[in-house]
Amino acid sequence: MYKLSGVTKRYSRGKDTVDALRGVDLVIEDGDQLVIQGPTGGGKSTLLQMLGGLDRPTEGSVELDGTDLARLSEARLTKVRSQNIGIIFQSFNLIPTLTAQENVETALVPLGVRASERRTRAAEALASVGLGDRLHHLPGELSGGQQQRVAIARALVKRPKVLLADEPTGALDEGTRDEILALLDGLWKEYGLTFVMVTHDSAIARRATRVATIKKGRVTVTERTPAA
Ligand SMILES: Nc1ncnc2c1ncn2[C@@H]1O[C@H](COP(=O)(O)OP(=O)(O)OP(=O)(O)O)[C@@H](O)[C@H]1O
Ligand SMILES: [Mg+2]
Repeated sequence: MYKLSGVTKRYSRGKDTVDALRGVDLVIEDGDQLVIQGPTGGGKSTLLQMLGGLDRPTEGSVELDGTDLARLSEARLTKVRSQNIGIIFQSFNLIPTLTAQENVETALVPLGVRASERRTRAAEALASVGLGDRLHHLPGELSGGQQQRVAIARALVKRPKVLLADEPTGALDEGTRDEILALLDGLWKEYGLTFVMVTHDSAIARRATRVATIKKGRVTVTERTPAA
């Protein structure tokens, strides 16, 4: 469970300061799905970075299961991230010179998993996203949707409890976008993930049961009972 209290993020550049987040309080229960939306520059990616331990707040606390990520040493934070948090982005961020399988394996290196087990688990993760027949392809030999599937496999191969996605379908065409969203939805349910997704897609926001809207660094949460 995430518990954010009074999270403020101020970016300073010389005399210029930007308050990207202003006193955000937010709870995300285990196994929940939270959709984050709002205008460009509102602070969505900044909030996701706080949740992922990729950056620290200027003020406030970001507790994951009672541990404040804002106060962890860099080494402990890296450990929490590599064990518990899978992250996917709009640009798939794959390493172009590594095959699909090798890209997925990279997530297991910091966990000290043996090479043979890394290979097996990477192949299984790729099969679970429908890419069992593309293990040895390089990113440049895959379609956009397939590259995002590799990135999803890389995020999930470590069996994290949290999956964070920052506009994961932003670079994809409409048909592929629906495929990826259906895949993510299925994986969320199958693995009982805590799933937080930033999206500009209002159709997704309409379907979601819990939506956080961020404007000028402030968050409003809307809850809805899903139609049966
Ligand atoms: N590293 C940084 N240094 C300075 N300012 C930053 C930095 N990162 C973000 N900002 C500023 O913080 C604010 C929030 O940015 P953020 O990237 O979180 O917005 P966003 O909601 O994700 O927007 P988008 O929909 O365009 O992705 C913006 O005004 C942005 O200019
Ligand atoms: Mg953003």
